[in-house]
Amino acid sequence: MKHTPHPTFLRTVLSLALVASGIGAAQAAVSVCVDSSSPTVEMDKAIAAAVAKQQKTTLTVHAFDGTGDDEEGFDLKEFNKMAANDCQLVMGFPVDTSASGLPDGLKATSAYGRTGFVLVTPVAAPAHSLSRLPEGSQVAVTYQTTPNLYFVDYPKLQADVHLTNDDAISALEQKKVGAAMLWRPSVVGYLAQHQEEKQFDYAELDEPHARWNLVALYDPANAAVAQSFDASIKALQASGALGKLLDPYAVVADAASGNSQANATTLSMLQRGAQLASNTPGAPKADPAAAGGGAIDKLYTSAQADKGKADYAENCALCHGDTLAGRAGPALKGKHFANPAANFHVGDIFTIVSQNMPATQPASLDPKMYADIMAFLLQENGYPAGDKELTFDDAKASKVPLVYHGTEQ
Ligand code: HEC
Repeated sequence: MKHTPHPTFLRTVLSLALVASGIGAAQAAVSVCVDSSSPTVEMDKAIAAAVAKQQKTTLTVHAFDGTGDDEEGFDLKEFNKMAANDCQLVMGFPVDTSASGLPDGLKATSAYGRTGFVLVTPVAAPAHSLSRLPEGSQVAVTYQTTPNLYFVDYPKLQADVHLTNDDAISALEQKKVGAAMLWRPSVVGYLAQHQEEKQFDYAELDEPHARWNLVALYDPANAAVAQSFDASIKALQASGALGKLLDPYAVVADAASGNSQANATTLSMLQRGAQLASNTPGAPKADPAAAGGGAIDKLYTSAQADKGKADYAENCALCHGDTLAGRAGPALKGKHFANPAANFHVGDIFTIVSQNMPATQPASLDPKMYADIMAFLLQENGYPAGDKELTFDDAKASKVPLVYHGTEQ
């Protein structure tokens, strides 16, 4: 098995073979890829080993570093390359149980476990749901993760956004915040390294897009391998072995979510959790004409956008970049930000801006200033200026689709 090293793969040097029992078996060998940067890497290897043992065959493990480069994260196309060259099954791929989208051209096995975002609280003050947290609680989250979106539904809580999971959990440890919403495997990984005392409790979050299934990705050419994998997982589940292998990183997936193929979303796509606000039951649907060719709404004045530009430079550019291309925070311009497929509206993004931004001091700016900054964001995303200013209330209620109208690629 050869593959040309790709830049993001230079750290992918280690490729080890685990020989499971059952030498000389009838079945062909199984090969898997595991992400050495994931807290679940040992669990993924153990599950693959148990599957190989169940099939009385040998296992080859190829480890890759899924960290990716700092700016872009791990490119989804790398999964295609791996599935084509390095292994039959890429283990540990998280898919949202309620959304859609796998790397193009790849398929997923049935879910072998369920994990997700959990609410972490001190053992002394356990709270197992967001609604049980006291009014005004500060809650640590990691940036570009789904739980950032939950604050819109829980105005009594305050977001404390961190760049890494470790930063978020140490804010909790230092009692700077009352709770944290984090990726379960990261919490488990942290607790495993800090075993001295049991400091935290955690509970599954019962919120949209909080629950994720773990699947293995495969190239359609390896469909037979995937089928055997599914059969072995079923057998391991029946014997009770699967639950033990998953614990404490994940639990056995719900039977109902067995076929996750049509129900996947990658973590990086959920950076914005765009589906959330617009899929709320009862939310008016966007006017399709406004998203497509028809006339584009004139929502602001150009004088207002100029004012907003100055306010942006002062309050937002530090994290989102002078040209809105993104830095610590995501890009606020272009097809990725204002993506028609996300079915996001001006009002949705404005709600995030006015309630969660600036990330360090949410909701700290004057309402008029928020509206001016929104005018500037609209201008940068190709919306035309008109003769009426955008007000805070109009921005908040706007059902105009958030779609990039500019010319940049
Ligand atoms: C201290 C850094 C920081 C500052 C300052 C800041 N942001 Fe953010 N922003 C972030 C981070 C991190 C995220 C991603 C986490 C999240 O979604 O909550 C984010 C997310 C966003 C999003 C959601 C993007 C998407 O695609 O879903 C918008 C819109 C946004 N910021 C606008 C602003 C505006 C406007 C300002 C100035 C008023 C601002 N931000 C100031 C860090 C910052």
